[in-house]
Amino acid sequence: MKVLVTGANGQLGYDVIERLEKSNIECLGIDIDILDITDQEQVKKFISNYSPEVVIHCGAYTAVDKAEDEKELCYSVNVLGTRFIAQACKEVDAKMVYISTDYVFDGEGDQPFEVTDKPNPINYYGETKYQGELEVQNILEKYFIVRISWVFGSNGNNFVKTMLRLGKERDEISVVADQIGSPTYTFDLAEILVEMIKTDKYGIYHVTNEGYCSWYEFACEIFKQVGIDIKVNPINTEEYPTRAIRPKNSRMNKNLLNKLEAWESALNHYINHLKQD
Ligand SMILES: NC(=O)c1ccc[n+]([C@@H]2O[C@H](COP(=O)([O-])OP(=O)(O)OC[C@H]3O[C@@H](n4cnc5c(N)ncnc54)[C@H](OP(=O)(O)O)[C@@H]3O)[C@@H](O)[C@H]2O)c1
Repeated sequence: MKVLVTGANGQLGYDVIERLEKSNIECLGIDIDILDITDQEQVKKFISNYSPEVVIHCGAYTAVDKAEDEKELCYSVNVLGTRFIAQACKEVDAKMVYISTDYVFDGEGDQPFEVTDKPNPINYYGETKYQGELEVQNILEKYFIVRISWVFGSNGNNFVKTMLRLGKERDEISVVADQIGSPTYTFDLAEILVEMIKTDKYGIYHVTNEGYCSWYEFACEIFKQVGIDIKVNPINTEEYPTRAIRPKNSRMNKNLLNKLEAWESALNHYINHLKQD
């Protein structure tokens, strides 16, 4: 099998490449320095030359707040870039994995969203990720759409790293307690993706670590596991205004046969991994 991974300098793409290499699968990781996915001709040429059997598309515009003010750029990367990759996959008959997000949902209610629930994004980033899903579904038959949430990995910035930094700088912090979701460790996710591409079980998947928590509970668990003594105050979304609105309910029902480990234990593995670096 020959696999092309976009967004290879990002959090998820980096771990996907590592996992593919560990599994002895021929692969190539690319990012914007090698291929700008908004350039249709280049995308077509690159994918046709490399001729992969699978493309795992982790590249994206991911600055959720900035997206509200950089709509054109966000659209061209997340919608047009995804379209160009899907078209190129069709031409070489490659399977495509499109990484999507809990932000395609509106966060109403308190029940987990099913893969069959209709998306209704409430911020621009979520809107473009949903449109990206539609592009993939319109162009291809051999696709996996994988919705993930609250990602943490060794490469790049994330909530865990931010909390660890703030834990050193402050005695007290306030964290939003009324947004509920599931943290997802890229290491666990990469393993599932590599198993998934060996199959032809196409469709939409929700993949996160097991269990739900609020950002407040996530922060408390991080400090508990590393032994940082800090006062953590639970606050409401309204008390922490951001440029883009976030869904309050990011619970997603998983439709995988193999469950991922609980988020607390994934966090523990991640923290141990960070200590080794
Ligand atoms: N992080 C999360 O919590 C989260 C949650 C749900 C879903 N997701 C989805 O998961 C996937 C991976 O996320 P991540 O956290 O690994 O994102 P990331 O760290 O931001 O990585 C995305 C990569 O894509 C690259 N990229 C941006 N524009 C590009 C272009 N025009 N051409 C080629 N590459 C381009 C970025 O380069 P630059 O850094 O130079 O821009 C970056 O290296 C994305 O599809 C994201 O939407 C993420």
